[in-house]
Amino acid sequence: MKELLGKEKEDEQSLSLRPRFLSEYIGQEKVVETLRIAIEAALQRNEPLEHVLLNGPPGLGKTTLAHIIAREMGARIVTSSGPALEKGGDLMGILTHLERGDILFIDEIHRIPKAVEEFLYPAMEEFAVDFVFDKGIYARTHRFRLERFTLIGATTRAGLLSSPLRERFGIVRDLDFYTVEELVKIIKRSASLLGVSIDEDAAEETARRARGTPRVANRLLRRIRDYAQVKAKGHITKSVVIDALELEGIDSEGLCEMDRKLLRTIINNYKGGPVGIEAICATLLVEPDVVVEVIEPYLLKSGFLIRTPQGRKATEKAYIHLGLQRPSSLL
Ligand code: ADE
Repeated sequence: MKELLGKEKEDEQSLSLRPRFLSEYIGQEKVVETLRIAIEAALQRNEPLEHVLLNGPPGLGKTTLAHIIAREMGARIVTSSGPALEKGGDLMGILTHLERGDILFIDEIHRIPKAVEEFLYPAMEEFAVDFVFDKGIYARTHRFRLERFTLIGATTRAGLLSSPLRERFGIVRDLDFYTVEELVKIIKRSASLLGVSIDEDAAEETARRARGTPRVANRLLRRIRDYAQVKAKGHITKSVVIDALELEGIDSEGLCEMDRKLLRTIINNYKGGPVGIEAICATLLVEPDVVVEVIEPYLLKSGFLIRTPQGRKATEKAYIHLGLQRPSSLL
């Protein structure tokens, strides 16, 4: 398998914890089953897989699934990302080098510039791209034929994708946050790959604080492993987890300092909301995209925050968790 392009600069460690086959994949059962059937059917027909769009918050397994699909199909994977494809020519270069059955993985596909996106339509549908030479009355187009490839798009904001693009994917699936039980299984698997022993209640405590996200679970596990190695003879107990995560600023609900800062800003500066995203971001000095795509999804999912037409509001659960006085409307 060859990775020609892209931002896949993850360290070897995190790659080695990732499942390599669908049979090793924990959670997202419906998505996994859909892919298993589509892959088996395509292999039986000796055809490339249809285009796949995976949507969901960061760290839930979109990139991992793309690599698994490639491995299960016995295909090469070429990776790129929306922001890296600045001009039509960038995408042309990649597309014209694809061989039959290759997989093109485009991360953050919602960030593709509009002009580049338009190259994708005929590429996905007719396996051809039209390139325009010269301008004005001398403009000529030349149609380049492409090999039949599979596009796998990953996005944290499917709502931002234009409908012509979304409609060209045969398989569209949302990834959801993982349950504590699924994260316990992932943490035990990772602990065993890292060669560290962990108690059942320690794995559960880590899972409860992992924001429903395997990437977070594995990151916490590494910090806990270091702590256990230096302070507890290498074995992970529940109290090791609690002490190690306290040091990391991760609280009993898995919220980090930035999560708490966001909730406190809404409560202290905007009377609990509703408040617009721009106002929150101006106070926190964070980009709105980061709040919407990275910080907010878990706060919404776990009931610390709600989104109303007037803006974001902190919930009663947020006041109680932060130990702040609730306004009379929430009593
Ligand atoms: N490591 C990270 N995500 C995983 C998953 N979904 N299943 C198994 N191991 C994982």
